[in-house]
Order: sequence, then C-alpha cells, then structure tokens
Amino acid sequence: MKRLILMLMALVLLCNPIVCGRASAQSIPEDLTDEQNSGNAKNIVVYFSRIGEQYNVGVIEKGNTAIVAEMIAEATGADLYEILPADDHYPMTYKELTDVALQEQREGARPAIEGELPDLSGYETVFVGAPVWWGDWPMIMYTFFEGTPLSGKTLVPFSTHAGSGLSGFDRTLAAAYPDCTVEKGLAVAGTDAQKNPDKAQISVDKWLEELGF
Ligand SMILES: Cc1cc2nc3c(=O)[nH]c(=O)nc-3n(C[C@H](O)[C@H](O)[C@H](O)COP(=O)(O)O)c2cc1C
Repeated sequence: MKRLILMLMALVLLCNPIVCGRASAQSIPEDLTDEQNSGNAKNIVVYFSRIGEQYNVGVIEKGNTAIVAEMIAEATGADLYEILPADDHYPMTYKELTDVALQEQREGARPAIEGELPDLSGYETVFVGAPVWWGDWPMIMYTFFEGTPLSGKTLVPFSTHAGSGLSGFDRTLAAAYPDCTVEKGLAVAGTDAQKNPDKAQISVDKWLEELGF
C-alpha cells in the first residue's frame, strides 16, 4: 500500500508541467512549493507551441515558440510552463491545422487545457508566448487567460509568426489583464527560431536587455 502511494506521488510530480527554466535540462523541480513554484525563480515563461508540419519549416520536432520560450527561460532563469490541449485534436499537417484553428476562432472556442491550470501567484513576471494564429492568439490562450488570475503581475508577451509580427498580442493581453503591467513584446519569425536560432537568440537577448533582465 505504502509503495502504491509513493508511486502515485511520483506520477503526480512527473506530470507537473512546470519545469525549471534550464532549457536544456527540462527537469522537474524537486522542491515544488504549494504554489508549484520551483522555489527559486521569480519569473515564468508560459507558452503554447505546435510540432508537426508548420509554415515554411517542414515537419518540426520542437515548436518555433517552444524554442524562443526556452531561450527566454535560459537567459532569465525562469521556470517554463507549456500549455497543452487536453484533447489534442490539432492536426499535424499545416493546412488541416489552419482549418481547425480558423473554425475555433470563428466559434470563439475555448479549447480545454490539459491538467489543472497552474497557480502562478508566486511569480513576479510572466512571459506569455504563442504562435500567431489567424492574426490573434490561438484560442486555447484565451482559455488560459480566463482561467488564470495574474493580478498585479508584470506580463511580457512574445510571438512567433510568419509575417504578422506581434499581431496585437500586447493589446489583447492588456485587455485580458487590466490590472497588470504589460511590457514591450517580442515577435520572432518562426523560420528564424527554427532555422536560424543564432539570429533569434540575438533578438531575444537584445529585447531582454531592454526590459532590464
Ligand atoms: C493555424 C495557423 C494560423 C497561422 N496564422 C498566422 C498568421 O495569421 N500570421 C502569421 O504571421 N503567421 C501565422 N501562422 C504561422 C505561425 O504563426 C508560425 O509558423 C509559428 O512560428 C508557429 O509556431 P509553433 O511552431 O510554435 O506552433 C499560422 C500558423 C498556423 C498553424
């Protein structure tokens, strides 16, 4: 019985999607507090990203936004939290994915997120990133915004994209969180993140420096 309980506890920890911000390590923090904070980081990078066939980069094994999210976490020592869909209905082929995403946007869908939404109360700054989908945040990000109170925190948006830049991510984030401070966002071309990471890294570093990190 004791063994079973220990195994269940280990499983719960392994399933926790907040991981320490060492991009290469992707380790689960051992000292999770009640707030699911690693105990050290003041900042967290929350992101959504897709693998599979993506625009102009072929079939990818790590999402463009994930690459940028990890650069930010690595540079700032932030924790990482990846938003995953509960029921992963998103196609792995680009054209089909764009169709599903457009349908969700037209319906104002709020796709469910896997697991419990995180308690981010222990963090000061929350970087929030996603690919631009049809000129906006993917609808699953609104599920996150509506379900995650971030009162009084500093929020920093970032996007990856194929030409649309930040697509008003900063404005929509400020509208979702009127009592937060929204800092200057960063837009990275998805092709740079995937195929020219040195260039993407320079943009990330310059931007973080401007923000005072
Ligand atoms: C459903 C869908 C819609 C997209 N809409 C846009 C868009 O409106 N503007 C744009 O610049 N790029 C758009 N793109 C391109 C993505 O933003 C870009 O490839 C991004 O880097 C993908 O990041 P990811 O690998 O993290 O998912 C779209 C891609 C998809 C799959």
